[in-house]
Amino acid sequence: MFPATSYECIDETFGRQQPFTLLMRMPQEIMGLEDFVVKFVSGHSGTLNLAVAGCSTGEEVYSYALLLAKNGFINFRIDGYDLYEDRLEKGRKGSYGVYWGREADFLVSYKIPESLAWVEGIPSGHGWDQKTICFSPEILARVNFIQHDFSFSPFPRKYDLITLENVFYQRQLGGKARALKHLWESLNEGGYLIHNDQDLSNNPFLRKEEVLAIAESGRFYLGYDPKSYVDE
Ligand SMILES: C[S@@+](CC[C@H](N)C(=O)[O-])C[C@H]1O[C@@H](n2cnc3c(N)ncnc32)[C@H](O)[C@@H]1O
Repeated sequence: MFPATSYECIDETFGRQQPFTLLMRMPQEIMGLEDFVVKFVSGHSGTLNLAVAGCSTGEEVYSYALLLAKNGFINFRIDGYDLYEDRLEKGRKGSYGVYWGREADFLVSYKIPESLAWVEGIPSGHGWDQKTICFSPEILARVNFIQHDFSFSPFPRKYDLITLENVFYQRQLGGKARALKHLWESLNEGGYLIHNDQDLSNNPFLRKEEVLAIAESGRFYLGYDPKSYVDE
């Protein structure tokens, strides 16, 4: 367990606002990512190992699991990593409350078969419904949630793909250069880092060697002050 106090500063980034996440967050990115991952998988043999660096309550993990399974690919393992055990615990439960209307949007617009995910419960008619999104046993069996700070050490296993989405705006206690180097170390040869941090690169799909080059470039946006670039 991490002592909670050493991590309090991370959530102070935006006035102690809790980091926010959603199933199929950022539709444009998810579409591009689906294309990329499906192409990557078609040239890949054996189990696809994917890590979500900074998964919060797990919605990103389930989004990728649904996209892979919906495309007929079920030979995968997805590990979500976060600093906070209470967020990971929500991920392990694998059921999410939904705001009215949204469940229909995402299950329908991403053509997710009901055999993989479905809505349980009844609409209240206003505001938050008594409804939950649930996942099939084949999805639940392929996801894991692990507490780990990758700014201090690499992940305990290696991955073909690692995603880093909406994480680096937060301060990294071990430093951003080290965090990135640990992600590089955690990638298999031929692996990719998928990210949405334009401060790292405009290319969201970075090959393993490109990740090292950026980590060694020595200049990083600190995270909470737009002007605060630091040499780490
Ligand atoms: C805003 S959430 C993003 C969740 C999800 N990736 C998304 O895009 O919706 C950022 C999460 O990253 C986690 N995080 C930040 N730095 C981390 C680190 N060094 N190791 C593990 N988790 C980290 C935070 O605890 C937080 O839950």
